[in-house]
Amino acid sequence: MNNEIIVSGMRPTGSLHLGNYFGALINWIQLQDEYKCLFFVADWHALTTGYEDTTNINNNITELIVDWLSAGLDPEKCIIFMQSSVKEHAELHLLLSMITPLSWLYRCPTYKDQIAQLKDKNIANYGFLGYPCLMSADILLYKAKYVPVGEDQLPHLELTREIARRFNYLYGEVFPEPQPKLTEAKVLPGTDGRKMSKSYGNTISFSDSPETIRKKVSMMITDPARIRKDDPGHPEICTVFAFHKVFNQDEVPEIEDACKGGKIGCVQCKRKLAEKMIEYLTPIYERRQKIIGNTKYIKEVVSHGNNEARKIAQKTLEEVRNAMKINWDAEV
Ligand code: TRP
Ligand code: SF4
Repeated sequence: MNNEIIVSGMRPTGSLHLGNYFGALINWIQLQDEYKCLFFVADWHALTTGYEDTTNINNNITELIVDWLSAGLDPEKCIIFMQSSVKEHAELHLLLSMITPLSWLYRCPTYKDQIAQLKDKNIANYGFLGYPCLMSADILLYKAKYVPVGEDQLPHLELTREIARRFNYLYGEVFPEPQPKLTEAKVLPGTDGRKMSKSYGNTISFSDSPETIRKKVSMMITDPARIRKDDPGHPEICTVFAFHKVFNQDEVPEIEDACKGGKIGCVQCKRKLAEKMIEYLTPIYERRQKIIGNTKYIKEVVSHGNNEARKIAQKTLEEVRNAMKINWDAEV
């Protein structure tokens, strides 16, 4: 355990799916043993593209936190909190917005992509343009050394470093420059072979019961060349095989041979997989069932995390206000 600080957040979009888990959460769970970690629900960030309909946001927040806890984020080892409960995020965002050139925000690839992709949504708003500036505030507020993120977020981290540099240049050294922590992510496709994503309806999530998992696995796309059981297969193009690589590593060589040699049928291969997945996911599923009903516990975890996060945030903001001389009240 060392004292270097790690910060990361997720937008609350509902129950996590296995792509999110193997892509990000599993790394967080590992990092909590090695660093001083702060993990938060980025609910303000969810508003940047979802401000029109907020009916599900509170429910999504609960689901996300429950998933974190069920999967193994441990409030004794890391700080779990809500962005909107630590108001310092907003103040730092405002102060950083003063020194962030518009051109830096306009040139963000995520901004251009999303504006083009979400044509049906009106997101040409001030808040959405400022998304990466708010994210910079999230990170700098805790003087994070590392930020575990996916590759899509790297431009935001680059911007965070630029803002930190600009701040330090203008007002004196306050912020360290955070580095990305890219961990090797296991790639898990969706049940139809495309990228796993809610919008494709091809996800498997922590809230799926063993029965649902069996059903979803039985419907997975396999190698279309295998019509009869003894047809030679091509595991490298098969979704079921990609899942075996994650959930059933030991048997991968055996399955590969059997598939290529036409010695195993897809139905049997899927059954094997479903049982391995259920073995892995059942403890998480059971914890989830237990925690989801315990609102008091969930609230306590987050409220404790909010307090811990706030302590660090307040200290940083005091330094920031002093450096910027926005501290008339505090002056004696
Ligand atoms: N933008 C991140 C994402 O979509 C979520 C996020 C918000 C974040 N603030 C952050 C991640 C700060 C890391 C650090 O995945
Ligand atoms: Fe895929 Fe298994 Fe069928 Fe081979 S036997 S195509 S790996 S499901």
